[in-house]
Amino acid sequence: MKIAIKELVGNVSEGVSFPRIAVRILRLFEDDSLSTYQLSKAISLDPILAAYILKISNSAFYGFKTKIKNLSDAIALIGFEEVKKIVVMVSMKNAFSVSDEFDRILWEHSLAVAVAASEFNGRLKITNDGSAYLMGLLHDIGKVVFKKTKELNYADDVLRKAYESNISAKTIEEEEYGYNHADVGAYLLETWNFDQDIVDAVGFHHINFIALKKDFLKNAALVSLADYFVNMMGIGKKEPVKDLILINESCSAKFLGYFNENPIDILNSVHMKYSELKKAFES
Ligand SMILES: [Fe+2]
Ligand SMILES: [Fe+2]
Repeated sequence: MKIAIKELVGNVSEGVSFPRIAVRILRLFEDDSLSTYQLSKAISLDPILAAYILKISNSAFYGFKTKIKNLSDAIALIGFEEVKKIVVMVSMKNAFSVSDEFDRILWEHSLAVAVAASEFNGRLKITNDGSAYLMGLLHDIGKVVFKKTKELNYADDVLRKAYESNISAKTIEEEEYGYNHADVGAYLLETWNFDQDIVDAVGFHHINFIALKKDFLKNAALVSLADYFVNMMGIGKKEPVKDLILINESCSAKFLGYFNENPIDILNSVHMKYSELKKAFES
C-alpha cells in the first residue's frame, strides 16, 4: 500500500508526540546563565520526569556511592548535559509506548544506539554528547510512525521479516512503500522543529557514506556506526554477530576513519550502560 509521507506523518502526529514540557526544558539549556535552581524548578513541574531523573541518577549507570535524595542535588551531581539526555529519554519512552514485542525491541534498540552513539562520539569527537545521544535515540523514529499507521501491516510485513533475516527494514520498506523509515523520521523531526543536524543525522543514517564523502554526513555516519554495532550485539536483531572486528569494515567506519582493534571494550561499556537504563525504565 502506498501513502504519501506527508499523509503518513500527519495521520500519526498525535500518537507520536514529543511532550511540550520536554521542548520547554530543552529550550532552557540554550540560556548560558541557566542555574541548577531554575532547571530543577522547571523539572519539578513534571513529577514523572523528576522521579526518573532521581532514579537514574541513583542507578549504577553513574555509580555514586551515596544516595541522592533530591532533584537539585541530582542535577548538580550529574550535570546539565546528562539531565538533557534523561529528559529526551523519558519523552521518547512515551512516543515509543510499548504495546507489543516489536515496540519493545524498537525501544531497546533505540536506547542502545543512543548509548553507543555517545560512546563512539567520545572517541571520534564529531558532535556534543547530548546531540549524539539524541540522534541515536531518534534514528529509527520513522519505524514508530510506520508502525502506528493502522492501514499498514508494518509489524509483520517489515519488522518481523527484518528481525529474522539479513534483509534490512530499509530495503523492505522501499519495496513496499517507495521510501524508508529514515525519510519518514527526518520528515517528522522537521515538523517538530528539530535542529537541522539532528534531522540530517536521522534522514541519512542508511546511505552509503563512502560514495558521498560530504562533511555534513558525519553525524549520520556516527549514528550508522552505532546502529551497526548495536545490531551486531543482537539488540534489535535475532542473532548477535560474533565477530565484532567486522565493525571496522562498515562503510560508516571507513567514512569516519574509525578503526578499533579491540571493540570488546566498547561492547562492555555500551552493554553496562544500556542495561542500567533499561532497568531504570522497567521498574
Ligand atoms: Fe534505521
Ligand atoms: Fe536502527
